Amino acid sequence: MDTDKNQIDVVVIGELNVDIILDGIESFPVIGKEILAKRMSVTLGSSSAIFANNLSSLGPKVSFIGKVGEDNFAQVVLSILESRNVDTSRIIRSSSLSTGATIVLNYNQDRANITYPGAMHDLHLEDVDFDYLSRAGHMHFSSCFLQPGIRSDLVVLFRHTKELGLTTSFDAQWDPEEKWDLPLEELLPFVDLFLPNMKEFKFLTHSNTVEEGINKLKSYSNKIVIKNGIDGSLAWDGKEIIRQPAFINDRVVDCVGAGDSFNAGFIKDFIDNKPIKKCLETGALAGAVNTTMAGGITAFQNIETIRKIALERFNYTL
Ligand SMILES: Nc1ncnc2c1ncn2[C@@H]1O[C@H](COP(=O)(O)OP(=O)(O)OP(=O)(O)O)[C@@H](O)[C@H]1O
Ligand SMILES: [Mg+2]
Repeated sequence: MDTDKNQIDVVVIGELNVDIILDGIESFPVIGKEILAKRMSVTLGSSSAIFANNLSSLGPKVSFIGKVGEDNFAQVVLSILESRNVDTSRIIRSSSLSTGATIVLNYNQDRANITYPGAMHDLHLEDVDFDYLSRAGHMHFSSCFLQPGIRSDLVVLFRHTKELGLTTSFDAQWDPEEKWDLPLEELLPFVDLFLPNMKEFKFLTHSNTVEEGINKLKSYSNKIVIKNGIDGSLAWDGKEIIRQPAFINDRVVDCVGAGDSFNAGFIKDFIDNKPIKKCLETGALAGAVNTTMAGGITAFQNIETIRKIALERFNYTL
């Protein structure tokens, strides 16, 4: 059955994979030897999926366009998203591709990741149903450097989405090749919210400071929101820079997905037409809530549990 426009608040277009997290390993892996881990969890990975999951738990109606295989990892991805009420009906299942996976080795306070991108490599512009997209209010796209199949069509994707009347957001995320080659001047006019972290912003704009980067972009970009871990976040609203400190968490479990949770909190308020200062505050709160439990989605079960964490840990009424 067709859903009407008001029933989809946000369509997320992006990458889907699982995280296989190994904790309590005895030493760092050594070639030719075998070591043991004390714990393992298999959960939802990938920036776009964590964002969709957490935004849906915060309340908005969220739908996902992406690609997985027809394998067990696809079942993990789909069943978790469905359990959080994300509409997965537009996720393409390919019999010839494998769902991607990241093996996360947590060792001491640090971690090493190995990712097999899998089906996310093969998401293309032709996989996006623009009739369907036209029924949503907002489109979010993340992790362009991990998705070569659609990366070269980003300007077309965002331009067409704007022509359909949606608002848009874009989180480029890290470039594993560290080339930082994006057509910002063509792309950003169609991006309402550009959401990099501080390092990504400086590399993408070839700048040493926020002010230098904003000066380079401001003649053709809309709102720019920059995340900076425990140093907080800031937004350029077209006129001035607005700063938001991070909420203090004295018992951080890990920071996996904090940026995606920040995006979810920010965009929840943005699509509600809240002022940018309030969007930043809710983003920072969501980022902090993320750090109270392991992984990117554990703290985001549903709105009641998120409110409870916000109140008990950060004395904040959501
Ligand atoms: N340790 C922390 N304590 C409290 N808040 C945090 C912490 N880490 C992150 N946050 C909040 O979450 C926001 C986003 O985090 P961060 O700057 O790490 O994003 P990111 O680098 O894009 O992360 P990701 O690796 O998930 O993409 C921060 O601006 C801050 O408000
Ligand atoms: Mg990020």
